[in-house]
Amino acid sequence: MKTSAVAEEKELDASPILQVVNVSHSFFTKKGAVLEVIRNMSLDLYYGEFLGVVGQSGSGKTTLLKIMAGLIKPTDGKVLYKGKAVNGPTPAISLVFQEPVLFPWLTVLENVMLALKRVENISKEEMKIKAQSFLDMVGLSGFENSYPGELSGGMKQRVVLARALVTNPDVLLMDEPFSNLDPLTAVSLRREIDLLRQHETLPPSSVLLVSHNVEEIVELSDRVLVLTSRPAQIAGEVKIDMGKPRDRRSPRFYEYVDAIFTLMS
Ligand SMILES: Nc1ncnc2c1ncn2[C@@H]1O[C@H](COP(=O)(O)OP(=O)(O)O)[C@@H](O)[C@H]1O
Ligand SMILES: [Mg+2]
Repeated sequence: MKTSAVAEEKELDASPILQVVNVSHSFFTKKGAVLEVIRNMSLDLYYGEFLGVVGQSGSGKTTLLKIMAGLIKPTDGKVLYKGKAVNGPTPAISLVFQEPVLFPWLTVLENVMLALKRVENISKEEMKIKAQSFLDMVGLSGFENSYPGELSGGMKQRVVLARALVTNPDVLLMDEPFSNLDPLTAVSLRREIDLLRQHETLPPSSVLLVSHNVEEIVELSDRVLVLTSRPAQIAGEVKIDMGKPRDRRSPRFYEYVDAIFTLMS
């Protein structure tokens, strides 16, 4: 009996939470010309994994994430969340944009509380407590009454992260969240995300990070998908079998970086 329970658990772990199935996408310009951005792409994001997707600028990464979050309807193909079609934004899937988007006239706390507006049966007081606890988690205790304009870029990105996590999403999609930060701030935010992942009671189950930065992807991901240049297709997959935190100067790290660069070129 025991072995079959274990086998069942393994099987659950090995099933995808979010699937991209034969997705193609083209943008149509006003003059009617077509820009093909994604060509017949399929990928699976598994329960509990941190998946990295790396591709050059303009390869279609942001478009892919918007499709996965239900913000863009693909020209062809579909996205499945737990086997059901995603036809629009859902609280189960959170997307962190490259540029932190915050309402400047709301405080940090109010910006995070806003994400809870869609949650049913939650009082204002509960919203406050929850938002505060997520701000504490991302290292922003004491800044709840500040306005976004008073924060550094790294702090804004932390607010965005708290807002993305406060609804307990199953899936967190991140679009180059470190690319507009100075290098030191990026290091501490990456570490923060790693630590959040180790928190067992914390959402989300699965994370997908897209970036053009190969080192950043190797530092954080369990598995990496490499995209071709536009139209994006999957050029290959690399599993990163290294403990964390990962030393960027280790030879092992560089073998992974090289393997990915080879697939990209
Ligand atoms: N709404 C849009 N309308 C027309 N073209 C777009 C739109 N969004 C993105 N593109 C184009 O699609 C291509 C891929 O963009 P994007 O997904 O942002 O790539 P990446 O995130 O990998 O840099 C680019 O050439 C971009 O100019
Ligand atoms: Mg982009």
